[in-house]
Amino acid sequence: MDDKDVLILAIESSCDETAAAVVKNGREVLSNVISSQIELHKLYGGVVPEIASRKHIEKINQVIEEALSTANVTLDDLDAVGVTYGPGLVGALLVGVAEAKAISYAKKLPLVGVHHIEGHISANYIENKDLEPPFLCMVVSGGHTHLVMVEDYGTYKILGRTRDDAAGEAFDKVARAIGLGYPGGPKIDKLSKEGNPKAISFPKAHVEGAPLDFSFSGLKSSVLNYINSCKMKGETIVPADIAASFQEAVVSVIVEKTIMAAREYGIDKVCLAGGVASNSALRSRMKESCQKQNLKFYYPSPILCTDNAAMIGAAAYYEYLAGARAGLDLNAVPNLKIGQR
Ligand code: KG4
Ligand code: ZN
Repeated sequence: MDDKDVLILAIESSCDETAAAVVKNGREVLSNVISSQIELHKLYGGVVPEIASRKHIEKINQVIEEALSTANVTLDDLDAVGVTYGPGLVGALLVGVAEAKAISYAKKLPLVGVHHIEGHISANYIENKDLEPPFLCMVVSGGHTHLVMVEDYGTYKILGRTRDDAAGEAFDKVARAIGLGYPGGPKIDKLSKEGNPKAISFPKAHVEGAPLDFSFSGLKSSVLNYINSCKMKGETIVPADIAASFQEAVVSVIVEKTIMAAREYGIDKVCLAGGVASNSALRSRMKESCQKQNLKFYYPSPILCTDNAAMIGAAAYYEYLAGARAGLDLNAVPNLKIGQR
């Protein structure tokens, strides 16, 4: 360790993953521990907030201890503590925030509050050491669909967003309709490989007067209508074709709007972020389109796409360098806006 190195313990508990990581200088991950509650929430077909909070409390100390020991550091080696304080489930966020404040107070360490989506975006810094703003980032997660211009570290401009469902939410709902279970994204991704993306023509929703905005609820309804009308007509449905055709509709809209924004704003670097960024069709289609347009394309490994604390550590580092410090009155903000201090 160099004297100038900045070692951050990062904590993430905004939804159903209890996670802690130790990150050096924003880009080097010394440990990245994730305790997923997916098996628990599967029983209910989605995340149950009360269960999530309770599980975070049970797991958080263990996850932090593991993150420190894997990184071979102690609390005394740290320079700061970073924590997700929004957006997310309030009870879930509070567990991470309270823990981070306790460590910060006990060890007299600076506390840095991190926006969850800024974390997802920053996941791209970890494996792409050359990546620097400005760049365009398409954030597609279970709760968010934002087309973001990263003007500088910590400076974000939202160019487009969903008007209704998030991309991941649409994946999860369609998966449920064809009996695939929760979380649906990875299951649709896998099943689509056996289906024909051109089998059914689902609508590629565009928002009138807002070319960079998204809308996925109409697409979801049209998948449900298709299934119902097949049932009424006594026709058998082919889940793999539904999955592949639905995925095609989502992926083509996301890629088209991202490329359109890159051209409009004269940006030559494009990134993906969030859970849906690990979708194989989205990755390959975006890669192909970026190559055609001479744009550089970046995306995180799947483990850094879904919720994790390493990405929070990366975002916290740049906030820390910019002098952002939270007080012990830091609170969870369930609807925190991006780029807000
Ligand atoms: O980023 P994330 O872990 O949590 C939020 O911040 O929302 O994203 C979870 C979402 C879920 O909706 C899940 O179905 C989706 O990401 N997802 C995928 C894939 N892997 C995860 N969607 C499509 N294809 C995938 N391979
Ligand atoms: Zn997330």
